[in-house]
Amino acid sequence: MMETVKIDIVKDGPYIVTGSVELFDSDEKPVPVKAGKVALCRCGRSAEKPFCDGTHRKSGWSDTEPTP
Ligand code: FES
Repeated sequence: MMETVKIDIVKDGPYIVTGSVELFDSDEKPVPVKAGKVALCRCGRSAEKPFCDGTHRKSGWSDTEPTP
């Protein structure tokens, strides 16, 4: 049975992915992820892409702003 992965879209923030996932970069290399929950950057401003590093909050990014 396939485990369900939950993705929450945080208002003015990241995607929170809950569940067992495998993440790969654009070269198809595996990106280590913490088991259980990961925050993926949605604003495009993180210095730790693809992960959220909190920059969205400091920079005042909002859902209504186009992604760079
Ligand atoms: S969503 Fe948090 S740094 Fe981009």
